[in-house]
Amino acid sequence: MSPPSSTQQIPDAPLVPQHVAVIMDGNGRWATARYLPRVTGHVKGVDAVRNVVRACAERGIGYLTLFAFSSENWRRPADEVSTLMRLFSTVLEREVGKMHANGIRVKVVGDLTRFDARLQEQIREAEEKTAANRVLTLTICANYGGRWDILQATNRLLADRPGLASVTEADLAPYLCMAHAPEPDLFIRTGGEQRISNFLLWQLAYTELYFTDTFWPDFDAAALDDAILSYQKRERRFGRTSAQLVEVRKAS
Ligand code: FPP
Repeated sequence: MSPPSSTQQIPDAPLVPQHVAVIMDGNGRWATARYLPRVTGHVKGVDAVRNVVRACAERGIGYLTLFAFSSENWRRPADEVSTLMRLFSTVLEREVGKMHANGIRVKVVGDLTRFDARLQEQIREAEEKTAANRVLTLTICANYGGRWDILQATNRLLADRPGLASVTEADLAPYLCMAHAPEPDLFIRTGGEQRISNFLLWQLAYTELYFTDTFWPDFDAAALDDAILSYQKRERRFGRTSAQLVEVRKAS
């Protein structure tokens, strides 16, 4: 069964976010500011991924979702795209064993058909190996776009149930590629831009948004704590008034 939807009922608003979703922006600018090639920024970005995965697990965050490569990123210079592909492959090769030992489940979501056969195979193996782990679910969004997700879900639903006259949230939910996770409590974008950039469009409906100027390679456990602190100061009303929330929470 899919996790509860924030547009249907009031989900728990835990003190530590259960699900954190991140746009890891600023790798290129981090490198350029140091007169280094942009790809060095991505390599440093992998170190930041490792640190943030560890920090999330230590803080009891159950789900971390990272936007690693958008459907639009194919428009980047060819050498940068191929470096990113090599990096994904290296990360899977080198890190999955360690992640598995630490109870981390790895999922990769997006239109994976455009990746080469070897990378697709590595992804399948990583998902299979770590499928039963529950300390933290790390979802990597690769060749992903929020609009793509909503359309692929709708098309697969209609293929399964061709007679459907109208579609409800509950119908669609199991077909969305984040069906394995609750909706994010906290969204973080590093690198100073304040946009969603076609990330998790459906799932971010009631997520708390946090933007920081810190470039992704510099984002560490302390920066994560700043984001969590900001999240903890928010009142999540899910469309209700403060007074209603008090009543609902008293009754539950
Ligand atoms: C955005 O920075 C970052 C990316 C498009 C790639 C992110 C990839 C990694 C951190 C490495 C691999 C990660 C995993 C999970 C395997 P940008 O290049 O847009 O930076 P800019 O805005 O400064 O140019």
